[in-house]
Amino acid sequence: MKKIVLCIIALMAVFLNPTWAQDLLFHEAKVRVGDDPSWKDPKFDDSGWETVSIHKLLHDQGISFPHTFAWYRIHFTPSPDLLKKSDLRQALIFNLGLIDDADQSYINGYFLGKTGRNPKDDGEEQSMWDTERVYVFGDASKINWGGDNVIAIRVYNGGDPGGMLSTGQGLIVPNLIDGINVAWEETDNPKAPQLLTCRITLLNKFAKAQKGKLKITFTDPETDKVLSKHEKDINLKGFRKTVFTTNYPKYKWSKVELVYIDKVYGKTRTFVHYPKYILTPKEPEKSRYNGAVVYGLRPGSPLIFRLPVSGVRPMRFSAENLPEGFHLDADKGILTGSTDKSGAYNITLKASNAYGSMEQKFTLKVDNNIGLTPAMGWNSWNCWGLSVSQDKVLSSAKALLDKGFGDYGYSYVIIDDSWEAKERKADGHIAANEKFPDMKGLGDWLHNSGLKLGIYSSPGAYTCGHYLGSLGHEMQDAETYNEWGVDYLKYDWCGYSEVWDTLKDQTVASYVRPYLLMEEKLRSQPRDIWYGLCQYGMGDVWRWGHAVDANSWRTTGDITDSWRSVCEIGFDAEANLYPYAEPGHWNDPDMLCVGKVGWGSMLRDTRLTTDEQYSHISLWALLAANMLIGCDLSQIDDFTQGLLCNNEVIAVDQDPLGKQAKRDVKDGDVQIWKRILSDGSYAVGIFNMSEEEMNIDFSKYFAQCGIHKLNSIRDLWRQQDLDTTKVTYHVAPHGVRFVRITCE
Ligand code: GAL
Repeated sequence: MKKIVLCIIALMAVFLNPTWAQDLLFHEAKVRVGDDPSWKDPKFDDSGWETVSIHKLLHDQGISFPHTFAWYRIHFTPSPDLLKKSDLRQALIFNLGLIDDADQSYINGYFLGKTGRNPKDDGEEQSMWDTERVYVFGDASKINWGGDNVIAIRVYNGGDPGGMLSTGQGLIVPNLIDGINVAWEETDNPKAPQLLTCRITLLNKFAKAQKGKLKITFTDPETDKVLSKHEKDINLKGFRKTVFTTNYPKYKWSKVELVYIDKVYGKTRTFVHYPKYILTPKEPEKSRYNGAVVYGLRPGSPLIFRLPVSGVRPMRFSAENLPEGFHLDADKGILTGSTDKSGAYNITLKASNAYGSMEQKFTLKVDNNIGLTPAMGWNSWNCWGLSVSQDKVLSSAKALLDKGFGDYGYSYVIIDDSWEAKERKADGHIAANEKFPDMKGLGDWLHNSGLKLGIYSSPGAYTCGHYLGSLGHEMQDAETYNEWGVDYLKYDWCGYSEVWDTLKDQTVASYVRPYLLMEEKLRSQPRDIWYGLCQYGMGDVWRWGHAVDANSWRTTGDITDSWRSVCEIGFDAEANLYPYAEPGHWNDPDMLCVGKVGWGSMLRDTRLTTDEQYSHISLWALLAANMLIGCDLSQIDDFTQGLLCNNEVIAVDQDPLGKQAKRDVKDGDVQIWKRILSDGSYAVGIFNMSEEEMNIDFSKYFAQCGIHKLNSIRDLWRQQDLDTTKVTYHVAPHGVRFVRITCE
């Protein structure tokens, strides 16, 4: 895990996945840096080892062990009474919380579990710092009830800081019914486009058989009406699973309640889930404009702008009042050209197809400010991590075009860390590694398709992933980027901390300096390169990002696909940053975490719930945040496509006024964020931050939101006008009502 990223994690509060309370809590451990298999032996004498807290990273307790191992040994004495109160008396559950980055854990010398991969394992190293370690151990007889026991945890740290963190780690002595686990998955149903297929997997995590009844009920949460009901007898041998598949309406919010009744002891467990549902209406066949209506270009720089127009192809494009030096490709809808003459050029863009035509007023502002609306595109990090390659980038870029994302303004295709060769060329220029055989070719391909190329580097000697950074080669790198046709640079602090640690002056100026240096070099190139700062918010970057002409600056450490992360990075960290965003200069709460993500070669569905995803995208639009998709676009489903391609939601994000939302209301679990838009209307997000469905009476908050009289209200996701006299909304747990209002 990278340094600053951890500031965020260190702030993390208690969160426990298991529904059971811990029967015995663990707080401290013996620790030693190094790696020796004998340290898992319960009899090993660790009395000389240092005692540490398992709730705080080792770095914060003065122990650093980058790129190496440390072992924890937790001693505990469980009372025999704990076992007696369980009806199972066989399996145990150990919750070890979060471990940064990878672990292998043992109980009394027996293997307990393993998460993530260290460099000595097969396959690439994999950090799984954001995954809770909840390990089941099947043999309670191996525990010394009433005596000393040892959990030994071998931790690999992929980059300081590392170690155990979080709170609430402990032992659970479960009942039989606690072995029942449920996994949900919803997929498109190719045979029935109006339906989604829901796969419910019931899993027995224990060796003892589970016998019982399963009741599955789909309801409409708004009316409580039962939509469908199913019942099933369950007879699950140890460690087996059974899958239940059903179809449900794709365009309707619904709730599934799953009740499992154990026949042996008569106990009951209930699981609630809100499956995926699509709110974005079907795209019209007629041509429709879906993206930014203003674009900034520096005098003399080449323009590449693919018109964000959806609708059935073939389509013909044209433009009125196109300034001299520019050309619009009538078939592809790609606007190119350049001019030395500063000015605001008002153009009318037109598109027509067999179903109709559209016209859109558009302003090309030629002066020294670029990035007049937040960047939209795709970045490789949240899906492929360090396993990115040219083929993977191309496959997402192709999918971006084939699946119509380009028609909604997604245009930057950004290669994150791990494209760099091991060594610089003899003349000091940077080269790409074997995974990227033809960077210039990739740039040309993207440009010919109306897309843009983005790249990643660090002001330090090394990047976060230990690839070459730009330190001492800033000018050469900027020149190379220009040669390759780079349109976006993500410049990540990481390795620069080695330089910074040695500086006497560690004031704000020391944060600014490396970014100012690269800015000069980028600006000396004959093309516009979006300058994306990534230094996790240090030195209040939002106060000086403008001064280094940054187009966006990351405000926090890395996002991950958990509600906790969206809350910390989006809701909490951004709450007071609205004064700093303006056209050309944006706060960046990091990339999107919807779709298939994974930060490595193995991708999974985002762990955000359906409604958390609606909240995530709504909030990012309110925040005028970059919309950089972080999933594999070649594997996108209809739900995720709907989330990312709702033209009314995108219009909020790309609004030319460029004002970031302010949190007007924080009332218990209700938050209301409001953003003024260029036509005088407001985008408003009404969020339910609680774990339960909630009725939120918007009118109760009118005064706090500065609304005297509501004139109109439109649901942005559903694209429907709502009744101004009925403003109590039933909102899903962690969900949102995202509206656009006009008011006095
Ligand atoms: C982190 C950065 C991530 C990603 C990664 C690459 O510092 O915040 O977004 O770029 O480095 O190693």
